[in-house]
Amino acid sequence: MSELYSFGMIGLGTMGNNMVLNMSDHGYSVAGYDKNPAQVAELNKLDTHDNIEAFDDIKAFVASIKVPRTILLLVPAGHIVDAVIEELKPLLQKEDTIIDCGNSHFVDTQLRIDTLAKEGFHFMGLGVSGGETGARFGPSIMPGGDKTAYARISDMLAAVSAKVNGEPCTAYIGTGAAGHYVKMVHNGIEYALMQLISESYHLLKVHGGFTNEELNAVFTDWNKGKLQSFLIEITSAIFLQPDESGKGMLIDNILDTAHQKGTGAWMSQDAMKIQSPIPAIDAAVTQRILSSMKQDRVVAARFFAKDNHIEKAANKETLANDIENALYTAFIITYSQGLAMLQQASATYNYGIDVATVASIWRGGCIIRAAILKEITTAYQNNADLKNLMLSPEFSDTLKTGEPTLRRVIQKGLQYAIPMPSFSACLNYFDSYFSEWLPANLIQAQRDFFGAHTYERADKDGIFHTNWSQTIY
Ligand code: 3PG
Repeated sequence: MSELYSFGMIGLGTMGNNMVLNMSDHGYSVAGYDKNPAQVAELNKLDTHDNIEAFDDIKAFVASIKVPRTILLLVPAGHIVDAVIEELKPLLQKEDTIIDCGNSHFVDTQLRIDTLAKEGFHFMGLGVSGGETGARFGPSIMPGGDKTAYARISDMLAAVSAKVNGEPCTAYIGTGAAGHYVKMVHNGIEYALMQLISESYHLLKVHGGFTNEELNAVFTDWNKGKLQSFLIEITSAIFLQPDESGKGMLIDNILDTAHQKGTGAWMSQDAMKIQSPIPAIDAAVTQRILSSMKQDRVVAARFFAKDNHIEKAANKETLANDIENALYTAFIITYSQGLAMLQQASATYNYGIDVATVASIWRGGCIIRAAILKEITTAYQNNADLKNLMLSPEFSDTLKTGEPTLRRVIQKGLQYAIPMPSFSACLNYFDSYFSEWLPANLIQAQRDFFGAHTYERADKDGIFHTNWSQTIY
């Protein structure tokens, strides 16, 4: 192609490569760059896309892009993003734009926005979710920050994103690092939903005695109802995947240690900072860490042998129905936590995020895409100031009927020493949020007793301190 390319893409790994092909399919010409000649050669050998070209020379790559340039990055988060920016900067002109499409930490993104703005460049943080297939055929895209830069890419993003009823799963998210913040919240919710699904699997497997075939049938059935979602659908498929080594089903041969790249933990850290409770997500992060302590668990299991007698469920169908209802209830409570935090973050960081818009662009393309997001979108469209999703008319009745089942399912887990950390965290959040009174008066009394930290009174305004009658050394 002799004309200049409309966009540049740095990082031609699976995600970058697939995004380039997706952009190309929609008529956008793209120059690609990667340090790895193999990735460059792979893209150049394709004879199906004549509006793309890959370079292994960064100068030639930059020179091949239309000015003002828009260069997207799909490289691992962290110092590599900074290294790429430093390499690019001397080759760019003022008004050029760099867009980081990776899972960068929002604090890093804000710093890059500020630094690059002073040097005359535009920088945007853009969240992409949908994995390899999403990148190729339509992800959910969460752009935030610089509006000038956004105007240059908005049509392209709408074209390449997933569509739900013809509506693109992308929209301007908010100022500054809002795009990466929202992607972080997406991932935190994803961690909790995955944990809740795995707790359901645990209970179904060891108390219900469900085989892999039966688990596949249960999840397939759930996916036809209110739990319909990408995560439930892939879970049903997982149970039927044979192990290529011929040893039964693959699921039974996968080591029980979950890894993580950090976005869930970042969400928990910021939740503590901005004081927004997200216990279901915290528990999911913690449980991944606990699962990774495999060696310790193997040794410990011998020290404190559990009573291995787990009574089998009297009626498998009843158990599966109960877990379906409990899981749906816990999904609602998880979204309630994540979206309440998003509202609080938006106020704290002045992002100007509209939660209804976020929920609507998560309806398709991303890992947490699910039928429930349609109703969540409606709940926030009907009331933009909704303090908590649990209070919305769209969900409050469902919660009322789901709560006893959630409690019953958790009791089964507790009875048989089956850990239910995210389910329990959802119920504890629910019980706390809907409690007029909590025993925090005692905590305040203790703080005042040992540290003169003062307390407020329930019957009158003011700050109080008591000289507690006993001195304890
Ligand atoms: C994502 O959804 O962005 C990640 O692929 C999943 O994150 P994890 O590797 O931390 O589970």
